[in-house]
Amino acid sequence: MSASSDAPRGGDGMRPFRVGLLGHGTVGAAFAALLEQRADEIERFNGRRPVLGGVLTRSRGDFEEILADADLLVELMGGIEPARGYMLRAIDAGKDVVSANKQLLSQHGEELFEAARHAGVLLRFEAAVAGVVPVVRVLEESLSATPIERIHGIVNGTTNFIMTEMAKGSTYDEALAEAQRLGYAEADPSDDVSGRDAAAKMAILARLAFGSPVHLDDVRYEGIEHLKRDDLEYAAELGLGLKLIGTAERVDGGVSVRVHPTLLYPGHPLASVSGPFNAVTVESATITEITMSGPGAGGPQTASAVLGDVVSVMTGGARPPAPPLRLELVHDIRSSFYVHLEMADEPGVLGTVTTLLGTHEVSIKSVVQRGLGESSRLVMVTHPVLESRLREALREVAKLEFVRGTPRTIRVIEEEFV
Ligand SMILES: NC(=O)c1ccc[n+]([C@@H]2O[C@H](COP(=O)([O-])OP(=O)(O)OC[C@H]3O[C@@H](n4cnc5c(N)ncnc54)[C@H](OP(=O)(O)O)[C@@H]3O)[C@@H](O)[C@H]2O)c1
Repeated sequence: MSASSDAPRGGDGMRPFRVGLLGHGTVGAAFAALLEQRADEIERFNGRRPVLGGVLTRSRGDFEEILADADLLVELMGGIEPARGYMLRAIDAGKDVVSANKQLLSQHGEELFEAARHAGVLLRFEAAVAGVVPVVRVLEESLSATPIERIHGIVNGTTNFIMTEMAKGSTYDEALAEAQRLGYAEADPSDDVSGRDAAAKMAILARLAFGSPVHLDDVRYEGIEHLKRDDLEYAAELGLGLKLIGTAERVDGGVSVRVHPTLLYPGHPLASVSGPFNAVTVESATITEITMSGPGAGGPQTASAVLGDVVSVMTGGARPPAPPLRLELVHDIRSSFYVHLEMADEPGVLGTVTTLLGTHEVSIKSVVQRGLGESSRLVMVTHPVLESRLREALREVAKLEFVRGTPRTIRVIEEEFV
């Protein structure tokens, strides 16, 4: 918002809009190149030309000089510190800030939002969730008058790519190796495959959708490391496809935010999202559902979302963060479940299991049973049930003498929109 007084003048007699850049890696370098490429066009409709001011990396630039020179700061360093300290310092100096840093926003978002609100500056972060898919702006602006019930997202392209390959027949290890070969997965993929990266993004989306602060630690997440290929095969027989889905929803006056492998029927808009793409479905009684999809990562793609935020600040199309509401976090959720049991191949076992589940008010929607010599597999999809009730029932099922090993479960989304 503020401006350096000695900046040269340009454009239609207006001085350039100086962008300080923290970080010049995959996204930062792509952003610098895109800014230069698009400067003429932005100046044409905005009247003011964006130019790159100082750049900070580990080996070049001085933060205080870059800050003093900048109208706006773009943070593309990643990590918590020193990114957090630099952003707070910039906000304190009255400078608008754009960031793509989901880890920072999901752990220190409230501190940054409060500082920005106090200073009356803008904090934009479209690229922190689902890359170039414009979900942040849609929630903040287009749907700001719509009471949102639920968001489901495929917000991690690495895991979606791995699961797409597994559905085609690869093992988890083969699919991960392919993702690394193609540059979709890091050498250390743990943040992605554990679900933690998706959890950070869902915390940010929940804050936007419901106004309630959600810290990364409030999000329950499970990853895809323990998925078995046979689960994908049985699910396919039941007409279901498997995805790593993040969910943020209103539940009983509170809010639940979670990430876990989830089975979907083919009519769900996220069922057909494959490869490294991201997609987010927003549900509300008034709008039914809206789904947005596109590339979730990549230097040029992410840079275009970052530059969109810069232009939004330049054109005055953004507002400071809203003050928080406080909603209770709910963790015990009703859902349908896929249940996979390994058992001795004896007559009557299906009836015994379903009767025992029935006494715990767990009812079965569909079943596949397969004999494999001495053992058999029973794969079921339940009707919606509270998770705590299902776990209690499965503890009893696991005690039956013909049941081998621990029952495996995966949540199922029942809704289909087409
Ligand atoms: N890559 C993607 O596809 C993608 C997608 C969506 C969001 N994001 C987010 O975008 C941000 C940047 O990601 P990236 O992939 O571009 O990271 P990156 O390639 O690792 O680049 C990081 C840059 O920040 C600089 N940096 C890191 N720590 C620093 C420090 N302490 N002091 C000064 N400079 C420092 C690095 O300097 P050196 O050059 O000296 O090492 C490097 O230039 C992250 O928040 C990430 O989560 C990335």
